[in-house]
Amino acid sequence: MENLVELTGIRKSFGGVHALQGVDFALRAGEVHALLGENGAGKSTLMRVLGGEHVPEAGTVKVAGEEPHFRSPSDALSKGIAIIHQEMALATDLTVAENIFLSEIPSVISWKDLNRRAAELIDSLGFTIKPGAVVGDLSVAHQQVVEIAKALSRHARVMVFDEPTAVLSVQDAERLHGIIRTLRARGVGVIYISHRLDEVFQISDRITVMKDGASVATVDRSDVEVDDVIRMMVGRSLKALFGEDVARTPGDEVLRVESLSDGGRIRGVSLTVRAGEIVGLGGLVGAGRTEFVRLVFGAERAHSGRVFIRGKERTIRSPGDAVKAGIGLVPENRKEQGLVLDFPIRVNATMAKLSPLVNRFGFVRRARERMAVEVLAKRLRLKAGSLNDPASSLSGGNQQKVVLAKWFHAGGDILIFDEPTRGVDVGAKTEIYSLIKSLAAEGRAVLVISSEHLELFGLCDRIHVMREGEITGVLGPEDYTEEKLLKLAMVSPAASPETLVVN
Ligand SMILES: Nc1ncnc2c1ncn2[C@@H]1O[C@H](COP(=O)(O)OP(=O)(O)OP(=O)(O)O)[C@@H](O)[C@H]1O
Ligand SMILES: [Mg+2]
Repeated sequence: MENLVELTGIRKSFGGVHALQGVDFALRAGEVHALLGENGAGKSTLMRVLGGEHVPEAGTVKVAGEEPHFRSPSDALSKGIAIIHQEMALATDLTVAENIFLSEIPSVISWKDLNRRAAELIDSLGFTIKPGAVVGDLSVAHQQVVEIAKALSRHARVMVFDEPTAVLSVQDAERLHGIIRTLRARGVGVIYISHRLDEVFQISDRITVMKDGASVATVDRSDVEVDDVIRMMVGRSLKALFGEDVARTPGDEVLRVESLSDGGRIRGVSLTVRAGEIVGLGGLVGAGRTEFVRLVFGAERAHSGRVFIRGKERTIRSPGDAVKAGIGLVPENRKEQGLVLDFPIRVNATMAKLSPLVNRFGFVRRARERMAVEVLAKRLRLKAGSLNDPASSLSGGNQQKVVLAKWFHAGGDILIFDEPTRGVDVGAKTEIYSLIKSLAAEGRAVLVISSEHLELFGLCDRIHVMREGEITGVLGPEDYTEEKLLKLAMVSPAASPETLVVN
């Protein structure tokens, strides 16, 4: 079969970091080709070369046999190459139709016509979204649909999805996979990047594994097992994804939340966590779990309800109050809440707790700080040029590792993790699980939000399931099945997201 895209000997460095060291990659028309590799392996960088965002130092990019020499993303788009970034690149204050046909806006004759064409494109993907809706008001899933429709309007022959499901609910991920299958049937070549190997095995035809800026192998999906792919990525096999179980004995109650509400979405949520316990918060994306923990942390104002820490009622009005009370929150959105991107990695990782590292003159003891960070960086397999580089220079998954390092370092009696392994590669996941377990074994109270059910089953002593801002049930280890969890998590059919009118 003829190749739609051929990348040969691609090299790209950033300062001293050799992100791509002679990568070969080929994509056929009508295939879904998964691109796998540990955090920092070079996947996104390779796709930025293909998409015209980076000009490579060496190597050739061929599209349908020609060598186009892209200088910008719009060059690439004009040759039919569209990248659906994880961080959405839409204009949030424009409407759906305006975003899809952005390049045509200067010459628009009929807005009615534009809206009709937008609606048709979205319909063809099996969704109903009003073309006049403002994009900033849409759910992440719908924003992604708009991005795809935009690519289709430009007649994309190649579509790259860089971790598209990291922010989607289970149902939305399935719908996206439906769209990808439609695209494949139309002859579009799809490149699919994900750390969720189960979905990679469901959707892809071929798999290319990258390691340290080079391509290791390209295989047919049907020729390999998940474990083979992990070995290619990590260089070792992962027998138990959840690592050794450390013995834990629950102690006294540390956190008690009674009927917490925000006067809107979050309605009367109660739970307790004891020292040494790991309690899970399950549910679908959008169930209100993040909003709830942000109330506990004082990042949002509670309307009613009480919070007790070690049996004493506490008023938490701000994250500062929360930290004083011994609560740490590892947020879901590292870009907005977790990192100062311009600051060095080293500073980001120690920011939450400077005091033990500061001597009596207030200077940070550099050697001590460096050591603390280096130990964590090694455990989490952080891939960075130097710990003095800005956090912005790290790959997506490595930024997440720095956010985690910050809180593993800071400690606190109560630790809340919101989607701790989002975008993190399989190798580092096992380390994160064992770090969370050892925090609990040291006697801390841990609360974990995750949309990956296996992650909750592997980590938690019990799981509170949320739906639409309320707890709908609590599962103990004997009830850990996908079915039971989903039953509690699912919206009743009458109010499923697609039948709601999108505003
Ligand atoms: N703009 C940049 N400046 C400096 N270094 C960079 C830049 N972009 C990428 N890098 C480095 O290049 C390497 C490859 O990064 P890339 O983002 O391609 O990894 P990835 O495979 O997409 O990882 P992830 O799974 O975490 O998203 C990393 O070491 C990263 O730190
Ligand atoms: Mg990436």
